[in-house]
Amino acid sequence: MKTKSIFLSLVCLLILFINSCNLFKENPVKAKNGMVVSASEIASNVGVEILKKGGNAIDAAVATGFALAVTYPQAGNIGGGGFMVIHLANGKSTTIDYREKAPLKAFRDMYLDSAGNYIPKLSQTGVTSIGVPGSVAGMIYALEKYGTISLKEVIQPSIDLAIDGWKLNKWNKEHFEYYKDEFKKYSSSFKTFTNNGRLYEEGDIFKQPELASTLELIKEYGNDGFYKGIIADLMIKQINKYGGYITQEDLDKYKPVERKPIIGSYRGYKIVSMPPPSSGGIALLEMLNTLENYSFDKNDWGGSDYVHKLVEAMKYTYADRTEYLGDPDFFSVPKDKLISKKYAKTIFEKITDRATPSNKITHGKFTNFKESKETTHYSVYDKFGNAVSVTTTLNSSFGSRIVVEGAGFLLNNEMDDFSSKPGEPNIYGLLGSEANSIQPEKRMLSSMTPTIVLKDEKPYLVIGSPGGSQIITAVLQGILNVTDFKMNIKQAIDAPRFHNQWLPDKIFYEKDTFSKSIKNELVSLGYSFEEEKLDKRKIGMLAAILINNKNIFGAFDKRGPGKAVGY
Ligand code: GLY
Repeated sequence: MKTKSIFLSLVCLLILFINSCNLFKENPVKAKNGMVVSASEIASNVGVEILKKGGNAIDAAVATGFALAVTYPQAGNIGGGGFMVIHLANGKSTTIDYREKAPLKAFRDMYLDSAGNYIPKLSQTGVTSIGVPGSVAGMIYALEKYGTISLKEVIQPSIDLAIDGWKLNKWNKEHFEYYKDEFKKYSSSFKTFTNNGRLYEEGDIFKQPELASTLELIKEYGNDGFYKGIIADLMIKQINKYGGYITQEDLDKYKPVERKPIIGSYRGYKIVSMPPPSSGGIALLEMLNTLENYSFDKNDWGGSDYVHKLVEAMKYTYADRTEYLGDPDFFSVPKDKLISKKYAKTIFEKITDRATPSNKITHGKFTNFKESKETTHYSVYDKFGNAVSVTTTLNSSFGSRIVVEGAGFLLNNEMDDFSSKPGEPNIYGLLGSEANSIQPEKRMLSSMTPTIVLKDEKPYLVIGSPGGSQIITAVLQGILNVTDFKMNIKQAIDAPRFHNQWLPDKIFYEKDTFSKSIKNELVSLGYSFEEEKLDKRKIGMLAAILINNKNIFGAFDKRGPGKAVGY
């Protein structure tokens, strides 16, 4: 009996040893010259080939962006929008906003019935949910202003992939299958995402000839190949067919905007992130500024006190997000106040050693949760020292699920990121105020947080994530794991995560994030919990690059199918 239990103990020790070895095997990809990290290995390879040919990080980012529209159709796109944060080797930081816009025919109460009740399906699905797409204009703007090679060169690999096809992985197959009933509603979508009406299998070659023709037109005519002519006609025809709002005038008027980044500091690092119409940069800095008032010891990570401090910082920040964030071209966002160290100190001073109930928290005074999380982030770094951080989205997985007939690309459902009825939650459970109410030509508020962290004024960390409202807290935890807890970049982005967004007053967490004892300690502080159930129980999906001592380390989150590719 005794021999048996000694034997069993040895087996257990062996299993623990093997597991810990596996943990340490989780190393980032290391390279000397350049790196692209995206949700699709094929798209990362497209970007790296551009770098190898002498292109810079902006060239590679645009090539990767077009490739993701082919190889990661659930979120990579030409029919959606995005944000690009750039830090150039010459020290300049900038951002490009190619967020979708509300059409000219949009109006404040367009998603309410005659009694003033919000009708979620109008903002969340179908043609009424489509915002004027910005991705093509934004990527071309970035390339023309900061790239070094031609549109023809950066787009050709994506055209080849769409014509020749590429092998579907398990992730693609499962996503196509999951949304099959949605695709059935539109013959163009059903045709695109099924193999002559049958479900695709893993390993099948997926060809997109109509998408290839659209990309060819963009290659030939630039913006005019998408916003005018055949493709624009097909888009408008499709939208009109189902009673949508977008017209040719909307397409003619769409322009990306270059904006000054949100810049702040955290423990000596410089944080460069996306300004409004994303809430990401401001909210990230508000949380970092608040947390800077504490000092964390390596052993604090994951403990109840650590979780408590982060969650309180999150609550105050999301309360401010609700009230003050919107399109800066339409609403005066008190940006400088929200990211000031002084304001963060006032939040820090309000945090006690117990949970503050959300109904006792209100936004700073200067003057229901349900989320689809398919956005995608990619990070790029080149041998010249340029860094690019891009988050792009169709909003939900496959956006409005409407493929433009004859043009082969999906249209977004981004209009749901507006506050359709101030006070009513959107698909992400996020509340909004007048700051984010619908107006013609206004950009809807986003949570996308493409970020570059500088150390001694040089890129140190390039990071971002999908995840709707959870993007900002996922990026926060990825950064803290590097700056405060000295994890390598792979461990930092794979580590378990939690999230709070003020309302609902709950800590959302991934399975196995908290031990029973930590959870009990947090309950005794007054917290309640909900295990993350949506989107395969993930909170974010980080794609990051860390540059240290001339070595470039890249990693894609274990939660997703992507890859870091370096050379
Ligand atoms: N559609 C998600 C976001 O922009 O945050």
